[in-house]
Amino acid sequence: MIVILFGPPGAGKGTQAQRLEREKGLVQLSTGDMLRAAVAHGTEMGLKAKAKMEAGELVSDDIVIGIIRDRIAEDDCKNGFILDGFPRTVAQAEALDGMLKEQGLKLNAVVEMKVDDNALVDRIAGRYTCAKCNAGYHDTNLKPKVDGVCDECGSTEFKRRPDDNAETVAKRLEEYYAQTAPVLPYYAEKGVLRQVDGMASIDEVAKQIDAVLAA
Ligand code: AP5
Repeated sequence: MIVILFGPPGAGKGTQAQRLEREKGLVQLSTGDMLRAAVAHGTEMGLKAKAKMEAGELVSDDIVIGIIRDRIAEDDCKNGFILDGFPRTVAQAEALDGMLKEQGLKLNAVVEMKVDDNALVDRIAGRYTCAKCNAGYHDTNLKPKVDGVCDECGSTEFKRRPDDNAETVAKRLEEYYAQTAPVLPYYAEKGVLRQVDGMASIDEVAKQIDAVLAA
């Protein structure tokens, strides 16, 4: 199964993609995570992406299309994957269509997660992740079962993203409405666009996504 989780920054794409990976064995392909890894390793691509990410702007289509093209050709993607944060422009959506066609793969659904802007800012401000395994948490909405200990790997070290500050979040939202929301009609026309209420609780959103994928 190939699924795109679609929505603005903080909508819950990563949270639900990690869950689908755990529960359904689909691979989470997050372009944000891949770019952050490239920045952390100081690769040429990371150096190009860093300034854009820190400013809350989109990284060039060429870079992200290239990383997804290479990634979906890997063996672990054969049983299906979840795209989290890609595509983010119409050019990326068109390139994805070409890649899937080349590999004889079919896109099953694009799940739009609808969330109010005010809630997005609150979610992003409270977000943190495990420094070791990247499991996601929130100061109030999703705490580890044991305070200060990652549920998934037991690590006691956590981190927050440098682009999760008020100024950059405002820019990321602006970019979403200007460049990414216009991708929605592209998928609506293809008949694969589905919506879930991203304002609901994490468990309720999970149920809605599972229902969409089972239909
Ligand atoms: P990226 O890493 O993709 O960030 P984003 O799209 O801004 O999305 P987020 O990771 O911020 O949010 P999310 O929807 O995953 O929410 P989460 O599940 O964490 O991109 C970062 C940057 O990389 C971009 O700005 C750009 O520069 C670059 N980039 C990446 N992809 C690119 C591309 N394709 N093209 C060009 N540039 C690209 O949830 C947020 C918090 O809310 C968590 O703490 C969670 O616990 C909580 N939460 C989740 N769901 C709920 C719920 N239902 N109720 C209450 N709380 C919830």
